[in-house]
Amino acid sequence: MHAAVAAPEIMTKKKAFYFSSAVLDWFDAHGRKHLPWQQNTTPYRVWISEIMLQQTQVATAIPYYAAFMQRFPDVQALAAAPTDEVLHLWTGLGYYARARNLHKAARQLVEKFGGEFPRTVEEVSSLPGIGPSTAGAIISLSRQERAVIMDGNVKRVLSRFHAVAELGSAQDKILWAFAGQHTPHKRVHHFNQAMMDLGATLCTRTRPSCLLCPLQTQCMALAEGEPTAYPKKKVKKAIPEKSTSLLMFVNEQREVLLEQRPAPGIWGGLWSFPETAAGDAVTLRQILKLDWGVSRRKTEAWPERGHTFSHYHLRMQPVLVHAEPLRVSERALRWCKLDALPALGLPAPIKQLLRELAAHERAVHEKGDV
Ligand code: ADE
Ligand code: SF4
Repeated sequence: MHAAVAAPEIMTKKKAFYFSSAVLDWFDAHGRKHLPWQQNTTPYRVWISEIMLQQTQVATAIPYYAAFMQRFPDVQALAAAPTDEVLHLWTGLGYYARARNLHKAARQLVEKFGGEFPRTVEEVSSLPGIGPSTAGAIISLSRQERAVIMDGNVKRVLSRFHAVAELGSAQDKILWAFAGQHTPHKRVHHFNQAMMDLGATLCTRTRPSCLLCPLQTQCMALAEGEPTAYPKKKVKKAIPEKSTSLLMFVNEQREVLLEQRPAPGIWGGLWSFPETAAGDAVTLRQILKLDWGVSRRKTEAWPERGHTFSHYHLRMQPVLVHAEPLRVSERALRWCKLDALPALGLPAPIKQLLRELAAHERAVHEKGDV
């Protein structure tokens, strides 16, 4: 057979019932029922949790969620906040486009929808950063209305249960069709929560606990004997590497020069050190002179560090320069006290570097070197 994908079978009522009742029974016995966003459930609270949980484990997300809700208890508070503050509360969670979209969507909710979440999957998924699965989760978990979800965990469970091997757009269609047939009309919020929990806790990527799984008697991947063969892994391309120098300008007041990065883009809207790509042709000395008006200064190269993004690996070479540059026009720059950093959005590796820099400068100061 050459066809890459078989058409989805029309599931019998019996099989659909088997699936949803097994999952719901499992939810009653083992599902998560006490997560913060499962209390005082509103579309707003579910939405924030779903966005945080897209790339973050539940245990990691909980403290961030608490701080976020305290500062932005409703969509109006979020819409009215400066972007910097939203990004600040996101510092450490990564994937900052999520926070920028959250903020944009909050403003649209206030401007276009009177601060209320719309009621259909189509309208909810028209908002920035909200796909059809997240829209389905918001609608089903907060309003208990029927909607289908398909996040990464659910996709893995279904690809194993139905033995759908590779994941691509054709297979996605099939999995959505299966999910639509499995999703019950009653207790849809429990069913969807259970599916996510099943994928996160039992049907895990590398070591599924099939013996504890409510779907074990009908799971095709288990019947074949090797559940982790599904979904088939795509061959990973080696990711490219980029290099940059981070210029750590520190002045005599022990302030550091930070620059806001352009959005969109990596770390867009966050504050970092000014960067320069010193190469073979231009030396760091020349860049300091030409771009920053700084000459004859001792520079101190710190050990290189790395950070891996989804599409490339970044090698960062921090360079400490005790100087106050002259030419700073056309750049979003500001001096910040090293000992009391303002509430700005900072990428986690930069925050760490700032901590080291503050400690370093304190030590230098105490020795009386500056
Ligand atoms: N991952 C994404 N959404 C989730 C939820 N509501 N509960 C647990 N894990 C999740
Ligand atoms: Fe996943 Fe195993 Fe359950 Fe199948 S039986 S859905 S592979 S945990």
